Amino acid sequence: MRLKFLPSFVKRRGRITRRQEKALVLLKDYSVFTIKDIQKESRDYDQCCLEIGFGNAEHLIRQSENNPKTLFIGSEVYMSGIGSLLSYINENKIKNIRIFSDDIRILLDQKCSETFNLINILCPDPWPKERHHKRRLINDDFLNMIQGFIKIDGHIFISTDWENYAESIEQTLNRSSIFSPSDDYVFEKNSLTKFEQRGVDQGRRIFEFNYRKNN
Ligand SMILES: C[S@@+](CC[C@H](N)C(=O)[O-])C[C@H]1O[C@@H](n2cnc3c(N)ncnc32)[C@H](O)[C@@H]1O
Repeated sequence: MRLKFLPSFVKRRGRITRRQEKALVLLKDYSVFTIKDIQKESRDYDQCCLEIGFGNAEHLIRQSENNPKTLFIGSEVYMSGIGSLLSYINENKIKNIRIFSDDIRILLDQKCSETFNLINILCPDPWPKERHHKRRLINDDFLNMIQGFIKIDGHIFISTDWENYAESIEQTLNRSSIFSPSDDYVFEKNSLTKFEQRGVDQGRRIFEFNYRKNN
């Protein structure tokens, strides 16, 4: 079967611990499948934020704990990361996180509706070899796909530790007439994710892009 989207990730089940495996049983209770699901769930909250590719979820968890009046949707395909998140949610009675456990482009391929105040994409897979650049998540098609889901004045925040990807992200954002660089932050980010930290440890710099959707 031909895939609609070229995979932007390497699907690895990883080693699943017993704790993660136990928690994965709860996935159905925290899952969202459609934009309508998300809009319904977000009615009880002031804002709604999407984090794409949350990895081990440390950033998603921190933001959700610091901002209880915001609903956070976390998207990831990596089952051990989803298991860790579910186990934290369960043990700490976190109420404001829901999960989309598939390629985010399947969700964003639905009829668009302005839903998110913020979309975070922290260290998307860099695909450093040139022949793999077409697998990078952030490109013109992806930006066109997400723009209709971000509220006017809503933000997109992207980080990467790969200079070559940073150049391409910046060019993609600057080609768009929909987004402009912004100095306002929906939420302050004052720690590094696992992949950002790895980049720093290996001597790379972290590039950040904070853009606002124009009205
Ligand atoms: C390099 S890791 C970064 C993880 C985390 N954000 C961090 O900074 O530590 C990128 C993550 O994005 C996920 N990912 C890549 N493409 C995705 C997609 N289309 N939909 C959802 N998740 C995706 C991958 O599974 C992977 O866990």
